[in-house]
Amino acid sequence: MLSENDTGSSLSTASTKENRDGLSNCICVDDFEALATTKLDRNSCGYYNSGATSQQTLLENCTAFKSWRFRPMVLRDVSSVDPSTEILGRKISFPVCIAPTAMNKMASRKGEIDSANAACSLNSGFTLSSWATSSIEDIAENVPSVLRWFQLYVYKDRVLTKELVKRAENCNFKAIVVTVDTPVLGRRYQDVRNKFSLPENLVLKNFEQQNKLGFSDGVRSSGDSGLAEYVASLIDPSLNWDDIEWLKSMTTLPIIVKGILTAEMAAEAVNHQVDGILVSNHGARQLDGVLPTINALPEIVKAVRGRCEVYLDGGIRNGGDIAKAIALGAKAVFIGRPVLWGLACGGEFGVKKVLEILRDEFILTMKLLGVTSVRELQSTPNLVVHETNILSKL
Ligand code: FNR
Repeated sequence: MLSENDTGSSLSTASTKENRDGLSNCICVDDFEALATTKLDRNSCGYYNSGATSQQTLLENCTAFKSWRFRPMVLRDVSSVDPSTEILGRKISFPVCIAPTAMNKMASRKGEIDSANAACSLNSGFTLSSWATSSIEDIAENVPSVLRWFQLYVYKDRVLTKELVKRAENCNFKAIVVTVDTPVLGRRYQDVRNKFSLPENLVLKNFEQQNKLGFSDGVRSSGDSGLAEYVASLIDPSLNWDDIEWLKSMTTLPIIVKGILTAEMAAEAVNHQVDGILVSNHGARQLDGVLPTINALPEIVKAVRGRCEVYLDGGIRNGGDIAKAIALGAKAVFIGRPVLWGLACGGEFGVKKVLEILRDEFILTMKLLGVTSVRELQSTPNLVVHETNILSKL
């Protein structure tokens, strides 16, 4: 929850003078992180910002981008560039979408509705978490024209899991993003220390109708992280590749697997005819010590050989990071924490500003690289190389 002003969500209520003043000093994503950290209380800030165990991968998700170097082209007439692209056949105005993050209403009053509205106004895409504090139906009713995907956690209760998929279908969500890296919750020390709980006034809205004990209001600590306890009791640790077949058999929506980090798992996903792979380490919140996603991307793109779309999330903080991921084969990237920081700083307005900053920095990077379209960025060889490859040739 916010410790200072409620940033609200409509553009007018979000803009108390104090908040706007803080926001006007935010010229990059790192500024949003710093400001958000002063606005969030300990419970929410720890939950949003932290990673698993030693947080090695949390740091590396960002720093690894720096070892990938640009090899720019010059004298290329970049007076006009087009940053738009397509994901699963739908046009988006630049290759950045919103990753699923749980419990957005701890950051702003309207939470996920603010995030979805911001994505909509910039013609980007929005992914709703299973553990959102706004429901599938809330998004469809309040932000009907946003391009929306639904992130699915597979519950031990398969009837309930199937209902979630059907509700997403009925509400015109365009894909199911099944998270495959969370058979149990990663150990996040800050949440354990804070005995992380969802504040009493909030619930996991997707389960409110179910009226089953603990599903909507179960993120309450009895001594450990409340979310770790929730996952241990309700999420299915037996999830396996047969369940991907089960999902495919019950829905006509495209299936994207989120949480792939190796060529072997990517090949398996392609064998199961998924429509997309989201290269992700869950924002470094699950298995600490895995590769930063940008370093895992090349082997996955190579293994997939164009047979499904590949996306990336984790550590995207500026336009250069976006360009590097796209040049290395991602169709689009997704952002998690930067959206939460935008929400905490200024609700919908804050998220919109985060997305605008990333879009503008991406366009700037395209121009300085000498490319005029996303396709050119994707198809020009060696625009981005790992610095060890350059040094070894000297
Ligand atoms: C997440 N993430 C996540 N993933 C998912 O599949 N379902 C979820 O409910 C959540 N919830 C969630 C909450 C918070 C607070 C964070 C920070 C992350 C992971 C998310 O989708 C994405 O993989 C990472 O956030 C990407 O890394 P960055 O952009 O945060 O560095």
